[in-house]
Amino acid sequence: MRDDNVTNADVLLAWYDKNARSMPWRIAPMDRISGVLPDPYHVWMSEIMLQQTTVVTVRDYFVKFVGRWPTVFDLARAVDADVMAAWAGLGYYARARNLLKCARVVANELDGVFPVDEAALQKLPGIGPYTSAAIAAIAFDRQASVLDGNVERVMARYHLVKQPLPASKEHLRGLAVQGLPDARFGDYAQAIMDLGATVCTPRRPSCVICPWAQGCRARALGVAQDLPKKLAKLPKPTRYGTCFVAMRKGGDVLLERRPDKGLLGGMLGWPGDVWVTEKVDAVPPFGASWREASEEARHTFTHFHLRLKVQYAVVPDDFEHAHGQFKKLALDDLPTVMRKVWKRVPAVA
Ligand code: ADE
Repeated sequence: MRDDNVTNADVLLAWYDKNARSMPWRIAPMDRISGVLPDPYHVWMSEIMLQQTTVVTVRDYFVKFVGRWPTVFDLARAVDADVMAAWAGLGYYARARNLLKCARVVANELDGVFPVDEAALQKLPGIGPYTSAAIAAIAFDRQASVLDGNVERVMARYHLVKQPLPASKEHLRGLAVQGLPDARFGDYAQAIMDLGATVCTPRRPSCVICPWAQGCRARALGVAQDLPKKLAKLPKPTRYGTCFVAMRKGGDVLLERRPDKGLLGGMLGWPGDVWVTEKVDAVPPFGASWREASEEARHTFTHFHLRLKVQYAVVPDDFEHAHGQFKKLALDDLPTVMRKVWKRVPAVA
């Protein structure tokens, strides 16, 4: 029998003490209990990277960023193009632009000190309700409730919330707040994320090892896997476009920087046309012996699928073009869709 004074939060924290995932931005629970808090710069950086991206992918980028820019002052002084290149491949590039803006506000206007409460954090670029709660809890051990997809799933199952998302969101938020502990807010936030990511998984949840199995109403009815319900999403439309890959004989390629606003804003890319919902024949940026690659490059963004024709041409070594720069190709500096375009270009010249 369980002692009546033991709350669900206590049970989860005890589970976390044994099962916490190790991450380069985290402080292990035993160290946190003895008063060590993580570097707020690390927590902020990791939370911005983790918006829309998995822990597995973020790990290496996080290590690269804090290695190259160890403090918020270093990042604030960074050259924009270097930060965008280092972010390439992580996606959702507005996050990188906001990362820089936020670093500059914190370094230049706040003496390098991140605010501790959610409201003040939300005034900074790139920090919304979820991220402010995560930073307040994890970096500063403030009582704040994080509600990401993992936590929504855990709450919907434990409390048998059958109403579909997104309509149930506020209800789930209330349930998450009710479950907060009286202390160890940072560990609790990370514990509930870990529970959702490793035990209460979207498909085939591991209920037999779940610390909350006893009270879970969805498990009792055998419907855990069916929750949370979600309203059917509309199918994604497809857009079409063409990229023009110009290569000098010496190997340099023509790349242009995309405008700051909009999709892939501030990133390097191949010259090309605007992506539209009907196939159109694009006009090359300049005359050359353009040839078409045998296969398109395909990529899926949040709101649409993209199919890009790939045209390529070899140009003389002294050829210049007003809208871009010829440079040595560093694939790692390009966003994923632009890397895919390059893969379609046959070895020529
Ligand atoms: N997802 C978002 N933030 C996270 C964190 N701090 N730990 C694990 N998963 C996360």
